[in-house]
Amino acid sequence: MFDNLIIVDNPLVKRELTVLRDKNTDSENFRAALDRVAYSLAIKVSETFGMDKVEVETPLEKTTGHKFNKEIIVIPVLRAGLSLVHAFHTLIPDAKVGHIGLQRDEETLQPIAYYFKAPKNLDHAKTILLDPMLATGGSASAALNWLKKRGAKDLTFVSLIAAPEGVKRLQEEHPDVRIYTASLDRELNDAGYILPGLGDAGDRTFGTL
Ligand code: PRP
Ligand code: URA
Repeated sequence: MFDNLIIVDNPLVKRELTVLRDKNTDSENFRAALDRVAYSLAIKVSETFGMDKVEVETPLEKTTGHKFNKEIIVIPVLRAGLSLVHAFHTLIPDAKVGHIGLQRDEETLQPIAYYFKAPKNLDHAKTILLDPMLATGGSASAALNWLKKRGAKDLTFVSLIAAPEGVKRLQEEHPDVRIYTASLDRELNDAGYILPGLGDAGDRTFGTL
């Protein structure tokens, strides 16, 4: 249906998504399930990492090993994107972490920027933008614009649930950015929430319902 969209829907992810969608799941279990899904997302994204060969000496002889050919930078969109950081950072412990603060205006659905901090060498790195929810695409598109203005060239966007409206928008505005998600849901409702979705990811993660 969409080019450049990778849906990571292995059985582990499908089971956790059921927990995440369930309105009766409390914050503690919501965060834990999201963390488990994030490992599958991170492993799938890592398939695109370029590698250089390096020599390594085992206790017995020299052999060939591997290292990433670019630095990895992960950038969560505050707040909800923070829920995806732990798994990425655990699997890529030398990744640098930037932060982008965006709050969607509940009336206009436009993103309002309130914080930006990223490592300086974005132009030479592989940059992975994290936000569990891709709804209208306004927040992700604004974050990608900001990263590109600061030199990022090799960009990937990782979400948990994407709406077709948001995927379409990102592909029109950022055709160079590959999108990963655990689920392509049906549509947005009039308030800009994803259906069936899971509700407000930030509120459910941090217990601010
Ligand atoms: C949510 C979500 C995305 C954004 C998606 O954040 O985490 O950042 O909405 O919507 P969009 O695709 O229509 O822009 P929200 O603004 O609710 O902030 P929060 O993470 O602080 O809860
Ligand atoms: N943000 C969320 O947290 N959930 C949605 O369904 C849409 C935007």
